[in-house]
Amino acid sequence: MALSTPGMMGRSCPQSRGVAFSIDDGPLELSVSIGHPELIAAIAAEIAASGPISFARFMELALYHPQFGYYMRAPEQMAERIGWRGDFYTSSDVHPMLGQALAKQAEQIDRLLGHPDPFIVVEMGPGKGLLARHFLSACQRHFGSLFERLHYVLIERSPAMQVLQRENVARWLDQPNRLTWANDLANMALEGVNGLFLSNELIDSFPVHRIQVTANGIEELCVDYQRGRFVDCLRPLSSEALSDRVRQINTAWPEGYRTEINVHAVRWMRQVAQLIKRGVVLTIDYGHVAQDLYRPDRKGGTFLCYSRQSVNEEPFLRVGDQDMTAHVDFTSLALTGEESGLRTTGFTNQLSFLMGLGVEHMIEELEPDSPTFNAAIHLLRPQGMGTTFKVLVQHKGIVSPELDGLKYKPFFESALTAQSAA
Ligand SMILES: C[S@@+](CC[C@H](N)C(=O)[O-])C[C@H]1O[C@@H](n2cnc3c(N)ncnc32)[C@H](O)[C@@H]1O
Repeated sequence: MALSTPGMMGRSCPQSRGVAFSIDDGPLELSVSIGHPELIAAIAAEIAASGPISFARFMELALYHPQFGYYMRAPEQMAERIGWRGDFYTSSDVHPMLGQALAKQAEQIDRLLGHPDPFIVVEMGPGKGLLARHFLSACQRHFGSLFERLHYVLIERSPAMQVLQRENVARWLDQPNRLTWANDLANMALEGVNGLFLSNELIDSFPVHRIQVTANGIEELCVDYQRGRFVDCLRPLSSEALSDRVRQINTAWPEGYRTEINVHAVRWMRQVAQLIKRGVVLTIDYGHVAQDLYRPDRKGGTFLCYSRQSVNEEPFLRVGDQDMTAHVDFTSLALTGEESGLRTTGFTNQLSFLMGLGVEHMIEELEPDSPTFNAAIHLLRPQGMGTTFKVLVQHKGIVSPELDGLKYKPFFESALTAQSAA
């Protein structure tokens, strides 16, 4: 079983914090389930009917098959999967600081927009709804004028996750015009949002295409089903969008090089740009600028699976029972945004973003070395969540906003938009 070095990891789980992990290949492989039986049957049937499928289609079914996908199980099961004792945890499981800082950032955006009524916050992929809860609490407590006009929209495709979200924001459910849900960006009743569109660890959970450099050029890694197991197979690139992005990256990769392309993220960015009338788009995730993500020595890409607090590179095991993710290409998001009417405000990491929003004052109020204090510091660690997580900020309908979250910008815009690593 292949393992990754902590530096490559994105999602947070104890192993990514450096817990030792060693596996004896043979016997363990045999004992690991290939996954949820009904899900495997459904994917195998699709392959039997139409031939090998793209990896993106496989990942879509593994994570989001309406009944058996990883994120689509019962709410109780989902509550166990994400969190300190689950398959992985996110910033909001660690400490409310991110939600609190985002509320502070929203208050500044509200001022720059001239206090629109309503001020709409759209959060896409809210998971258990903890970020929403922390944001709403902080806003209610510290930013009363904004809170009075605040309408929070949660876009979540998993019905189970929506149940958990409702539990976490229960105290605001009966307030008129406070909260609404949609299961898809395209199904939103809103148009022309004035406010803030935010996401944390959404894009890394979009299905990705996988490509490999072979003697024939660049081919797509597709998925076949043979003798009761899923296997890789190579095919020509399956879509124009995929070929276009490969061409744009324009890097001299060595033979055998594998990587991922997130075509879905590009489509998503266009939809978001269309939805925003005046406001800011804030995308938090682990990832890199294209020059770094696609550099020739990153030979195996960044695709990883998370299960029971450890990480592996085996998408064809535990299908439907483990999370799958790939690092985000922030360059493609910034460039697509620019083409679609969003200006790039800046690009930073979580540590600098939180420092810009004054987290030291929040930390000063905590008891040194207490569990809460240590949790808050965990979000800022320069060798961990503080720098693995990046923040892309884009705007529309406001002139060059100077946002507190971007006070310290460790990345220059030229690095964000440069395409080629060659
Ligand atoms: C890795 S979790 C992140 C959860 C949360 N943002 C957090 O930080 O804890 C990804 C979430 O995005 C949701 N999701 C993925 N693709 C989506 C889409 N196209 N539309 C709405 N929700 C989506 C998943 O169901 C899941 O709740």
